[in-house]
Amino acid sequence: MSEVVLEARDLKKYYPVKKGVLQRTIGHVKAVDKVSFELHAGETLGIVGESGCGKSTLGRLLVQLERPTEGKVLLEGRELKTDQELREMRRDVQIVFQDPYTSLNPRMTVGDIIAEPLLIHKKDLGLKGTERARVQELLEQVGLNPEHINRYPHQFSGGQRQRIGIARGIALNPKVLVCDEPVSALDVSVQAQVVNLLERLQRELGLAYVFIAHDLAVVRHISHRVAVMYLGQIAEQGEADQIYSHPMHPYTQALMSAAPVPDPVIQAQRERIVLSGDVPSPANPPTGCRFHTRCWKAKTGTCDVNVPVLEHKGKADHMVACHFAEELTSVTA
Ligand SMILES: Nc1ncnc2c1ncn2[C@@H]1O[C@H](COP(=O)(O)OP(=O)(O)OP(=O)(O)O)[C@@H](O)[C@H]1O
Ligand code: SF4
Ligand SMILES: [Mg+2]
Repeated sequence: MSEVVLEARDLKKYYPVKKGVLQRTIGHVKAVDKVSFELHAGETLGIVGESGCGKSTLGRLLVQLERPTEGKVLLEGRELKTDQELREMRRDVQIVFQDPYTSLNPRMTVGDIIAEPLLIHKKDLGLKGTERARVQELLEQVGLNPEHINRYPHQFSGGQRQRIGIARGIALNPKVLVCDEPVSALDVSVQAQVVNLLERLQRELGLAYVFIAHDLAVVRHISHRVAVMYLGQIAEQGEADQIYSHPMHPYTQALMSAAPVPDPVIQAQRERIVLSGDVPSPANPPTGCRFHTRCWKAKTGTCDVNVPVLEHKGKADHMVACHFAEELTSVTA
């Protein structure tokens, strides 16, 4: 396997919950709670989980938009401590946001939006007034007309705006692009085009992606490996093929059973696992296994008391955090 380009090691992000006139801290939202993974050069790691499970927070930690409460992000095995190292990291690890309508400044031209990261890092890159040519090259690379460099975001469709966000994301030749639900806000017909573009850029530029999505179907084709998150933690991770054909965590199995299957015969035969209740608050996560309040396999006395660790189960890279992890062939597609 190729070298590790980005590593999250025991990452935590706790947001204080404040109350009253004195704004006293009365607790913490454990948005990301001890997440570890490795991302290899040129691969795509899909991160999946329900709303509020900490995916965007994790994304912001990876690109240093936020500092972790605890834990580390390592770039090519190096810990980043000094300002210079962090600046380097911000160049090598870029982000594309979910909503192309709000993430682009409406008062800036497309050329200025894409050139902004080039200007910020101009000194480090040794650039001398060549941004315009580079921006036009980038527009072409993402399938937009380079002559539209002076237009404003509102003159583009949603899919085109996401292409602008991607052009900005790759402007500095990063090693890693964190894509936070890059197609969720787009029409279904446009989603595949943007995914195809990301796949082409990965091949051409050797980019590694952290691809965040809220359902398993979206990341299925683009991901080499997948991590399933629940309440700020990874419940299961491994090779995408393994996760989809042999999910072992009850939460992943439930998500899989809810995903539609193109074959109506298989769809009709499948058993659907319905999760009861809502996702608990990350400010007060359940004891023991965080999933026990909704888990259809939970055993009182074990699951509500003992925290399951993420450990190797099944094939090589497959890791599961469940006391009773096992394959359940009837839910697989
Ligand atoms: N700046 C913040 N201050 C306080 N709480 C926050 C902050 N950002 C996120 N949270 C909380 O952290 C938890 C995780 O949020 P996050 O946005 O990372 O989830 P998500 O998985 O990206 O959800 P979605 O699918 O809705 O985008 C949520 O409970 C959220 O309310
Ligand atoms: S540890 Fe128990 S509650 Fe948690 S996922 Fe496994 S069976 Fe369900
Ligand atoms: Mg999010």
